[in-house]
Amino acid sequence: MHEARLLEIRNLSVAFADAEQDILCLDRISLDIRAGEILGLVGESGCGKSTLCRAILRSLRAPAYIAGGRIFWKGRDLFQLDEEGLNKVRWREIALVVQSSLDALNPVMPVERQLVDAMRVHTDWTRTQELTRCHELLDWVGLPRRVLKSYPFEMSGGMRQRVVIAMALALEPQLLMMDEPTTALDVVTQAEILGRLRDLQEKQGFSVILVTHDLPLALDFCDSIAVMSGGRIVEMETAGELAENPLHPYTVRLLQAFPRPDAERLSENPLR
Ligand SMILES: Nc1ncnc2c1ncn2[C@@H]1O[C@H](COP(=O)(O)OP(=O)(O)OP(=O)(O)O)[C@@H](O)[C@H]1O
Ligand SMILES: [Mg+2]
Repeated sequence: MHEARLLEIRNLSVAFADAEQDILCLDRISLDIRAGEILGLVGESGCGKSTLCRAILRSLRAPAYIAGGRIFWKGRDLFQLDEEGLNKVRWREIALVVQSSLDALNPVMPVERQLVDAMRVHTDWTRTQELTRCHELLDWVGLPRRVLKSYPFEMSGGMRQRVVIAMALALEPQLLMMDEPTTALDVVTQAEILGRLRDLQEKQGFSVILVTHDLPLALDFCDSIAVMSGGRIVEMETAGELAENPLHPYTVRLLQAFPRPDAERLSENPLR
């Protein structure tokens, strides 16, 4: 596991065009994702996490533009692909659950139509194949089959989030990027969804980039963590190493921002 490099990002810079002076928002980012790896991307609001996800899919919107660097996907230069080549990679090979995707479902379409639409753009599956995959997807994310007939407004936030993740998994991508997928959910639902995803990832071996503000959550779920600050990666380590031995002052502050009830502190508690 973890040998083959899927994604290689080299000195990637992204800027926003501005009348006065263009503003650099990603500053020479370099990072690798191997097959089967779960990477957490953490950092304060506005540090560039969503911009990085969009740059990987080459779906930046003006005034943002690539100001430098390269991205290789399975050895191919993503910046050299034409629109057709890129469309083969998007969804089929790399899927993105966008930030605020809870609101991204079509409110007037039942779940089945939305899942099937995601498949139809890229496959010529028969109706039976589509339905089989719909059922598999619901099983994977832990939803009952009757949900296929439901509309988004009939479901809770946790259920809608599962549908959105199911849509991203519809074509069994090799890399699943999730931009703050569980921020709006309570911690129990959040843990349930991520637990299921982890089981599925272990079976299917896809890679994951999980974007979050929540460093303890990332430490729990991810193999390795990239900490971003001000458009740069300031630290990158395995989750275990980062938790034990954070090097960058920003990482230390992030860790201190969340109370962690560890054994040592509990034993120091005079009330015990
Ligand atoms: N259309 C735009 N024009 C100019 N600047 C932008 C635009 N979109 C984003 N930015 C800037 O780019 C930077 C990175 O934004 P991005 O959305 O990637 O941050 P983020 O890390 O995902 O934040 P959050 O955790 O709040 O989602 C921010 O400073 C933001 O102000
Ligand atoms: Mg964001």
